Amino acid sequence: MKPKVFVTRQIPESGLKMIEECYEVEVWDRYTPPPREVLLEKVREVDALVTLLTDKIDREVLDSAPRLRIIAQYAVGYDNIDVEYATAKGVYVTNTPGVLTDATADLTWALLLAAARRIVEADKFVRSGEYWRTGTGWHPLMMLGYHVTGKTLGIIGMGRIGQAVARRAKGFGMRILYYQRHRLPEELERELGAQYVDLETLLRESDFVTIHVPLTRETYHMIGERELKMMKRTAVLVNTARGAVVDTQALVKALKEGWIAAAGLDVFEQEPLPPDHPLTKLDNVVLAPHIGSATYETRAAMAELVARNLIAFYKGEVPPTLVNKEVVRIRPPGFR
Ligand code: NAP
Ligand code: GLV
Ligand code: GLV
Repeated sequence: MKPKVFVTRQIPESGLKMIEECYEVEVWDRYTPPPREVLLEKVREVDALVTLLTDKIDREVLDSAPRLRIIAQYAVGYDNIDVEYATAKGVYVTNTPGVLTDATADLTWALLLAAARRIVEADKFVRSGEYWRTGTGWHPLMMLGYHVTGKTLGIIGMGRIGQAVARRAKGFGMRILYYQRHRLPEELERELGAQYVDLETLLRESDFVTIHVPLTRETYHMIGERELKMMKRTAVLVNTARGAVVDTQALVKALKEGWIAAAGLDVFEQEPLPPDHPLTKLDNVVLAPHIGSATYETRAAMAELVARNLIAFYKGEVPPTLVNKEVVRIRPPGFR
């Protein structure tokens, strides 16, 4: 008998087909996430789970899943999963690093440029008829924004995505500063043209600050009132990492009171962001609904990587992108 996997949302067909070769697959086919009761019920009888970042996989879920051996997350970030507890229970956790790096770096740049050059405001201006009504045409002082080329870019978290953002910044002739806990090898720093600084220096000197750290206990509200006040009044903040890395209340204040100039956000502390949220009332922020990896190619590649992880595990091999490597010592891979 094939092991059973519950897939918490429709994912691209190419990955599902691969999974079906080794697993009996059940897909939650509604657009909205399975309600908590459904998830708790499904996990009782499955050997594997494919999860999204919106599925909270905590102790309660893990304790309700006597047969569960592997959680294959359809995302690189896995802050929705209690990995420590999963490891203790011998449950493998895999994610989808690498295949979504370029798409997320591209979206970071789309938000950075859109926020700097007021693209969304400008679109509204044209669409609403204001451009027509004012009869201005081209005006020397109309819709002025912030210059990008040649400015300083601060990258918080110079991992896969941070580095891909840095590579793109070279085309804009930018000076690049970065901060994370460990310094990169000097050769890589040279190749990226990036200088290692502390967080305070990065915040004080950058014209653009972009966040690429995972959400952890350490990075929760890493950017709050104090940090936002260190930034330039002309600076633009971009967040495509996780909403809770930034203190949203402080950010709203910063954008309203002009401590910083603008922001481009793909992620929020509360997702979906409610339509009456104060952020939606501000012109100097560009908002996206967590679409960093949302290209046809990338979403298919993520599904295939999820499948490769599940298939490797099925064959008794260590999955290629295992998060909790220590788990191998607790229980060998496979369903035996
Ligand atoms: P990654 O390669 O692991 O890079 C993360 C970097 O953050 C590492 O270089 C790490 O360096 C640094 N970091 C970790 N903890 C830190 C801390 N406490 N303080 C400072 N720096 C810290 O991950 P990635 O593939 O680039 O992905 C990054 C994140 O992007 C994911 O975790 C996910 O949340 C988010 N993401 C969002 C989307 C989207 O749709 N918007 C798409 C993909 C990914 P050190 O260990 O040296 O500190
Ligand atoms: C998306 O946010 C991811 O972590 O892959
Ligand atoms: C603008 O359209 C210009 O030609 O400078």
